[in-house]
Amino acid sequence: MLVFIAQNYAEVSREAARMVARAIRRQPDLRLGLASGSTQVGMYEELVRMHREEALDFSRVVTFNLDEYVGLPAEHPQSFHSFMFRNFFDHVNVPKRQIHIPDGSLGGNFEETCAQFEEAIRRAGGIDLQTLGIGKDGHIGFNEPASSLASRTRVKTLTRRTIQDNRAGFASGEEPRAAITMGIGTILEARRILLLGSGAGKARAVALAVEGPVTASVTASALQLHRDATILVDRDAAAHLRHKEYYQSALELTRKLTPGRLW
Ligand code: GLP
Repeated sequence: MLVFIAQNYAEVSREAARMVARAIRRQPDLRLGLASGSTQVGMYEELVRMHREEALDFSRVVTFNLDEYVGLPAEHPQSFHSFMFRNFFDHVNVPKRQIHIPDGSLGGNFEETCAQFEEAIRRAGGIDLQTLGIGKDGHIGFNEPASSLASRTRVKTLTRRTIQDNRAGFASGEEPRAAITMGIGTILEARRILLLGSGAGKARAVALAVEGPVTASVTASALQLHRDATILVDRDAAAHLRHKEYYQSALELTRKLTPGRLW
């Protein structure tokens, strides 16, 4: 894994957007995996700015979102669907037919929905670049502790802590208790992975993900099994990493010796 430690959230957002933009400019029909959550907002803002001011073109980009709450119609203001349109899709030129977000609305056949989502990824040729956030318990997507490291897109029950962490905007007692999420096996098949983390609240999860054992108890640790994962965190989120200096010097040498590995 490559570990970039940025000064602050603004730098994480700028760097992440620069990496995504570079991938799109190299491959205009990039199949891009997207995440929701407050950490991603700054990156989306920067991508929107690049679209407006630097002609960054999303017209051929195909997107796949990681997850969605079960039980919310897409139009619900707290759905990840609404989040994605509010923060990103309403402001760039990804054609609607190229946007894929799991459908968590009640009444559907979830097994079929999940299988169709996997099939859509396969038909598109797989995900080229998957962006991720990280939960305080070290989850990616909504792959809560004890998720199989081989899991595919499916319905997952949320932990009490995740329900608490994500409860803003929901009336008490109305917080969703389950979500559809890409599985760890699905995520690991992406060709490149970029995980963002910001703030002291994520420091423990980031340290466990990067330097702890690979374990289903901290599903972000599965990224250690991926051959091209980049961890982009600010200083606060990096606070518990033990090998910060090494990551810095590894980056400097990578820039000199194998720049193709960088973004
Ligand atoms: C949710 C999402 C994750 C996201 C996490 C962190 O649990 N399913 O994909 O990484 O929230 O969100 P935030 O960036 O708001 O801390």
